[in-house]
Amino acid sequence: MPPPVPKVLVNEVSVTFESHGRSVLALDRISLQAHAGEFLCIVGPSGSGKSTLLRVVAGLLRQSAGAVRIEADRPGMPLTAMVFQEHALLPWRTVRDNVTFGLENRGVPRAERDARAREMLAMVGLTRFARHYPHQLSGGMKQRVGIARALANDPEVLLMDEPLAALDAQTRTIMQEELLRIWALLTARPGRVSQVYSVDLGRPRGLEVRGSPAYGALLEKIWSQLREEVVRAMAEDRRGERA
Ligand SMILES: Nc1ncnc2c1ncn2[C@@H]1O[C@H](COP(=O)(O)OP(=O)(O)OP(=O)(O)O)[C@@H](O)[C@H]1O
Ligand SMILES: [Mg+2]
Repeated sequence: MPPPVPKVLVNEVSVTFESHGRSVLALDRISLQAHAGEFLCIVGPSGSGKSTLLRVVAGLLRQSAGAVRIEADRPGMPLTAMVFQEHALLPWRTVRDNVTFGLENRGVPRAERDARAREMLAMVGLTRFARHYPHQLSGGMKQRVGIARALANDPEVLLMDEPLAALDAQTRTIMQEELLRIWALLTARPGRVSQVYSVDLGRPRGLEVRGSPAYGALLEKIWSQLREEVVRAMAEDRRGERA
């Protein structure tokens, strides 16, 4: 059998930013693939280009070189939807109308929009808040609206740029579990977490996995490599400041 066609193919993508007469190479020939049902995490120090890569995949930013291909299974459906670090909800629209914003723009009929919003809000546990406005919600609830809004569009690929970073530690832990639950509902096939590190911790996987030796070993492996990069990046930053 031929290997399955990757859902997302990033091939030798480079991005150079020009600002104040200087050019910054934000991405240097990045290649990666993600298959249907896969949950792929990009880990790297601040400024390493994670958001830039997501923006290129989302089509919000044009790469300077290389190619991105997203395999569309369902013609006419959006390719990607993005959940941002700061939820970026529209403050003048209710929770429900935030969730249906993209559908409205695509001309989806009202009844279908409402049904879709009900389904998504039930999934993220916000049914009772459909008529609330963003300022009446907690940070975690706002972030759940952002996730519901992205999923309501039924994109081929869901992109999330540190969607939980703005939350306090406790809410973040709860939301991590929540995301895993939503993802398990969305995908029939459990996949690997990363290209580089395959995570064989089994599914369903709750937060109790953090107590297992296998989790500890994996975390140590990823973190020890990341630590080197973070230290190097910080040293470069300090050199930059002195320069
Ligand atoms: N619009 C832009 N113009 C100029 N430089 C930019 C622009 N956007 C990003 N950069 C630069 O590109 C590099 C990568 O930035 P990016 O935001 O992708 O990093 P990141 O990995 O997402 O960091 P963080 O973890 O802090 O979110 C940085 O050096 C940043 O200063
Ligand atoms: Mg970023």
